[in-house]
Amino acid sequence: MSVLDDPGLFGRQWAATYDQPGNPDPAPAVEFLAGLAAGGPVLELAIGSGRVALPLAARGIAVEGIEASPEMVALLHAKPGGEAIPVVVGDLTDVGVTGPYPLVYLVFNTLFNLTGEGRQEDCFRNVARVLAPGGAFVIEAFVPDPADFDQNEQVQVRSVTENSATIRLHQYDREAQTFVRQTITFTNGGVQLKPFGMHYRWPEQIDELAAQAGLRLEARYATWQREPFGPDSTDHVSVYRKV
Ligand SMILES: C[S@@+](CC[C@H](N)C(=O)[O-])C[C@H]1O[C@@H](n2cnc3c(N)ncnc32)[C@H](O)[C@@H]1O
Repeated sequence: MSVLDDPGLFGRQWAATYDQPGNPDPAPAVEFLAGLAAGGPVLELAIGSGRVALPLAARGIAVEGIEASPEMVALLHAKPGGEAIPVVVGDLTDVGVTGPYPLVYLVFNTLFNLTGEGRQEDCFRNVARVLAPGGAFVIEAFVPDPADFDQNEQVQVRSVTENSATIRLHQYDREAQTFVRQTITFTNGGVQLKPFGMHYRWPEQIDELAAQAGLRLEARYATWQREPFGPDSTDHVSVYRKV
């Protein structure tokens, strides 16, 4: 197995800094998801440190989670209300719960973190298994922009200080629709590499995964505020229904 397919990789590398300012405000997502919760309980795949789950639970909705990283779960459980959210530590692809849930959601591009062969397909199949009849699966992801990978190899400078320099290198495989990213920090103490990989898909390709699992696209928006999705949209929020 590639190191990029290790579901615990993200948390080992990023949990220590995940809750620093900079992640999106969860309020619009919480408002959107609360409208689909249908009394709950709801399931967040890759619940992380509870950025979305905690404010959703604070609205009185029973939220459960699956998360591969014990480091991320520790962050969640250290927050007020976090201990009350049941979390299965495991690979979200396997959806190691039984449900049924009226709502399952997977946000912040995390579908694309599933880089192993067939794992996104597995995810949809297993979500369909635990959804209640008529239940909703909500995905939030970016729309790949070919201009972002007009060259297969890319270099970005992230930060330069008197003590360190951090750069990001991307290697794209446009045919496979994958990239490997290394965030590399140089200090006098040495060099640190943080690998990360994604298997990105265009929205209509995600619709095909859903359809294979018996889920039908009900609505697609450009934002959590339900702005219309169009050719210039950079992100999408897609609602699939179990038919
Ligand atoms: C970008 S964070 C999103 C966390 C949270 N959903 C949020 O919106 O803040 C991605 C999360 O996915 C988790 N993750 C990545 N691959 C996973 C997998 N295969 N199974 C379960 N969790 C996974 C990571 O540990 C991390 O917590």
